[in-house]
Amino acid sequence: MRPYICFLIMFLASGVLCVTCSSFPTKEVWALTTFKEAIYEDPHLVLSNWNALDADPCGWFGITCNKERQHVIKINISGSSLKGFLAPEMSQVTYLQELTLRKNNLIGTIPKEFGMLKFLKVLDLGMNQLTGPIPTKLGNLTSLVKINLQSNGLSGSLPAELGNLRNLSELILDRNKLQGPVPAENNSSFVAKIHGTNDSRTSETGLCGASQLKVVDLSYNFLVGSIPKCLEYLPSSSFQGNCLQEKDAKQRPIRQCGPQPLRSHQAPSLKHHSLKDAAKHQKASKPAWLLALEIATGIMAGSLFLVAILTAFQRCRSKPAIIIPWKKSGSEKEHLMVYVDSELLKDVTKFGRQELEVSCEDFSNIIGSSPDSIVYKGTMRGGPEIAVISLCIKEQHWTGYLELYFQREVADLARLNHENVGKLLGYCRESSPFTRMLVFEYASNGTLYEHLHYGEGSQLSWTRRMRIILGIARGLKYLHAELEPPFTISELSSSSVYLTEDFSPKLEDDSY
Ligand SMILES: *[C@@H]1O[C@H](CO)[C@@H](O)[C@H](O)[C@H]1NC(C)=O
Ligand SMILES: *[C@@H]1O[C@H](CO)[C@@H](O)[C@H](O)[C@H]1NC(C)=O
Ligand SMILES: *[C@@H]1O[C@H](CO)[C@@H](O)[C@H](O)[C@H]1NC(C)=O
Ligand SMILES: *[C@@H]1O[C@H](CO)[C@@H](O)[C@H](O)[C@H]1NC(C)=O
Ligand SMILES: *[C@@H]1O[C@H](CO)[C@@H](O)[C@H](O)[C@H]1NC(C)=O
Ligand SMILES: *[C@@H]1O[C@H](CO)[C@@H](O)[C@H](O)[C@H]1NC(C)=O
Repeated sequence: MRPYICFLIMFLASGVLCVTCSSFPTKEVWALTTFKEAIYEDPHLVLSNWNALDADPCGWFGITCNKERQHVIKINISGSSLKGFLAPEMSQVTYLQELTLRKNNLIGTIPKEFGMLKFLKVLDLGMNQLTGPIPTKLGNLTSLVKINLQSNGLSGSLPAELGNLRNLSELILDRNKLQGPVPAENNSSFVAKIHGTNDSRTSETGLCGASQLKVVDLSYNFLVGSIPKCLEYLPSSSFQGNCLQEKDAKQRPIRQCGPQPLRSHQAPSLKHHSLKDAAKHQKASKPAWLLALEIATGIMAGSLFLVAILTAFQRCRSKPAIIIPWKKSGSEKEHLMVYVDSELLKDVTKFGRQELEVSCEDFSNIIGSSPDSIVYKGTMRGGPEIAVISLCIKEQHWTGYLELYFQREVADLARLNHENVGKLLGYCRESSPFTRMLVFEYASNGTLYEHLHYGEGSQLSWTRRMRIILGIARGLKYLHAELEPPFTISELSSSSVYLTEDFSPKLEDDSY
């Protein structure tokens, strides 16, 4: 008996040892899982084999491990239409050498935590929709050889710390909203002040410190000042489309420079801008019949992102239990603190739950529902009819990312302001009871589809049809050509056109 037990113990011990020696660092698996968590749309399902239960991520799509299969060294997921945020936890993939996430739809900021990826050689986040500044901490990643952040919405100044990157040979930052001077010798004191650093070496030399730089593209930003002497060997096309004092490379017209671009990178003022444009447009187009008295529901406009939220939500729900412990930890709160921009919704009306409860007669008038949301009809004090979409999501499933996504979508819908486009009136966000609601204008006359297929033909006279067609055309022109950035309706059909009492059309996104 004894020898047998001994053998058993030895067997178990060796088993345990084997597990520990061959298993992948859980930190890296966790970091990758968090990365996946922060992606809320994956239309090509490229992350479908990223299974958190799998202790070895080396076979996951887009992942390359080192030869010993001990660490993830490359992540390359390009052109996959991923929509979501960059999780700061990615910095826990300690041995990462290449991070390529080109041509997706990533939003949010580049986490400053990426400055901890000290083996990183290639950082390619080009052609996404990232905003905010380039983290100065990237200047810490001395192994970096290539940085490509082109075609995003990055703002702020060009960090002088990038000059610390002695091995950097490619710096591609074109088509962003970067401002300020190109950091170099002349602007040392200025640059040092901005970043509050005291690294005299960096502040003295700026980008001149990166002596290996061969390919630089800073075109189509809002950079000012002059091209530093140490970068004069670069082709002038590297600097075109900025606000530089430069004769060789074509610069922006003066009206695009000046103080305006400094503000225009913020969403609120963009919205303001488009509102002004819309107002101008309304003045220019006179037909009185277009002035809608009645208003439309935006149920369908909301549905596009409802689907996304709900998909994300279902994903959380179906997550295996091991994810839960850290999901429930305080880190959610941190996510909120890190990501949610308190300015995002400052121009959007916030309704109180109680107010909506009164308007919707204690939420008794249900006009639509799905397993994940309920739509109520109500009447605001003062008259307008509203449709209120309430998300049925439990608080414990609501992550910081979903909150940010919710807020961004609310902000995106709130900027739509045209008589032929369904209008978001506001939102409701309360913690007890946990509430996330959207308030849309309500179109009392149903969809064009209903009128064409089930209505009395007499209701759609020739004049009315013309009005509807012209209204749709105006709505589309507004969404596609007048809004900046444009807003796409995924599918235009007669059921995505809602009609007001006087048969004025309202476009809604009908992708539910
Ligand atoms: C990343 O993957 C794409 C194809 O999926 C490939 O074309 C590209 O060369 C890869 N990039 C890197 C840096 O490995
Ligand atoms: C990175 O930056 C931090 C401070 O931001 C500094 O303490 C650390 O030494 C830096 N690491 C490297 C490798 O330069
Ligand atoms: C920079 O490149 C040189 C030569 O390729 C290499 O020896 C050195 O280790 C690199 N430095 C860093 C910080 O990676
Ligand atoms: C920067 O260095 C100066 C002296 O060179 C010192 O007086 C100052 O306190 C330093 N600032 C910071 C933020 O370390
Ligand atoms: C230095 O920075 C200041 C402040 O932005 C700017 O006005 C000036 O043109 C810059 N000088 C050079 C030579 O780039
Ligand atoms: C610094 O600026 C002065 C003028 O302000 C200019 O003459 C000089 O060439 C600049 N030096 C460098 C290295 O850019």
